[in-house]
Amino acid sequence: MSSAPRPIRILPSILASDFARLGEEVRACIAAGGDMVHIDVMDGHFVPNLTFGPDIVKAIRPATDAPFDVHMMVAPVDPWIEPFAKAGADVISVHAEAGPHLHRSLQLIRAAGRKAGVVLNPGTHESVLEPVLDDIDMVLLMSVNPGFGGQKFIPATLEKIRRVRAMIEGRAIALEVDGGVTPDNAGALAAAGADWLVAGSSVFKDGPAHYARNIAAIRNAAEAARGVLV
Ligand code: DX5
Ligand code: ZN
Repeated sequence: MSSAPRPIRILPSILASDFARLGEEVRACIAAGGDMVHIDVMDGHFVPNLTFGPDIVKAIRPATDAPFDVHMMVAPVDPWIEPFAKAGADVISVHAEAGPHLHRSLQLIRAAGRKAGVVLNPGTHESVLEPVLDDIDMVLLMSVNPGFGGQKFIPATLEKIRRVRAMIEGRAIALEVDGGVTPDNAGALAAAGADWLVAGSSVFKDGPAHYARNIAAIRNAAEAARGVLV
């Protein structure tokens, strides 16, 4: 468990939202208690799915003041960093597996004035983080293989969270987890050391009238496990 609990943040992933009403969905999930908007950018090459370009991020930017957390599943990623920064991304994370120049990508994100994150697939060892610990504001551990929402949480992620938490302890680096997050595993994730919980299906299920209930269930489970008062 983390020795100094940091605030739990819940990040609705709009991949699970109604794309025909995207702006309204962004507004609704933040009004319902989401802390940041998680935006999955997929290129049909690094991952077998296609989603949002920078123009879509720009179009939904006015829907909320909440930060945009942009998860880039793109290779090569460097040419897209500035367009997404300009479109309104606040945090931009790049996969360690997406190319040979992770450090350069992180420099580009910070040069664009945005917070930089590194994402690790479930099959990637956390040792790749060591050389870039001074260059990141966030680590995102995938708890499913990236590309699709609605997949089952991979339990080995919990041990990885503990190991990465130990690596980043004492640094201003957030630990985010993405994939298969539900009220049932949020407590274990928080206890292992996760700060930011991304949730798609478990936030957007049952329609807008239930977003607040869905988000509260994840947050309450996480905070109870950490012993943090709201
Ligand atoms: C998967 C994406 C996730 C996805 C999570 O590649 O990175 O952000 O939206 O969806 P759920 O919460 O449904 O597993
Ligand atoms: Zn994601």
